[in-house]
Amino acid sequence: MMQGRLITLEGVDGAGKSTQLLRIEQELKAHRIPYLLTREPGGTSIGEAIRKVLLSPDFGEMAPETEALLYAASRAQHVREVIRPALQEGRIVLCDRYYDSSLVYQGIARHLGIDWIKYINERAMDGLMPDRTLVFLLSPAEGLRRAQQSHTPDRLEGEKMAFHQVVYEGYVHLAQQDGGNRIVPIDAAKPVEEVWQEVKKALAFLWE
Ligand code: TYD
Repeated sequence: MMQGRLITLEGVDGAGKSTQLLRIEQELKAHRIPYLLTREPGGTSIGEAIRKVLLSPDFGEMAPETEALLYAASRAQHVREVIRPALQEGRIVLCDRYYDSSLVYQGIARHLGIDWIKYINERAMDGLMPDRTLVFLLSPAEGLRRAQQSHTPDRLEGEKMAFHQVVYEGYVHLAQQDGGNRIVPIDAAKPVEEVWQEVKKALAFLWE
């Protein structure tokens, strides 16, 4: 049986993750590799209910700590109910956002500190780190412009430009610190086809 792997996709809002996820799916299908596509917050009934609370523009009063704990709660359920079982079946799990989103959005952009976010998430994830993480890097102005073209902004997309700039820099920082072992930065400003070539290279170990 194939070994299960956890692949996560990260980046600023509107960086083109969804388009590339579709391509990755097609590639896995072409190689007849069993996979599961899922997302955070969400991926389970409980997680999708938490997602509604997190992204609703009605809850502008949400404290940063509440936000961080809700993301971690969604993740705790997701790992136990969906991700771990799929990995045990030998599937490739593609997850649209995971741990690194919390490090960057809550730890850095919301100023809660990386240490506390690591602490609550290590327990929430039951220690399950991704095997590879693709970080789609795009200037926040361009990211928001693309996001606004496709839908009305959710609670996080409605944040000020300065917030998105910090998110962007947070991802750059994580990628630099990692030194290319787990996190692969992807230049999402390039045309779709060129981005795909980068993505394909970063994930070649799955199908070669
Ligand atoms: P979503 O619409 O899925 O964003 P995208 O399409 O850009 O991936 O909304 C998820 C939002 O939640 C996104 O703005 C990032 C944010 N988020 C966090 O702040 N912390 C987290 O741990 C996760 C998983 C997401």
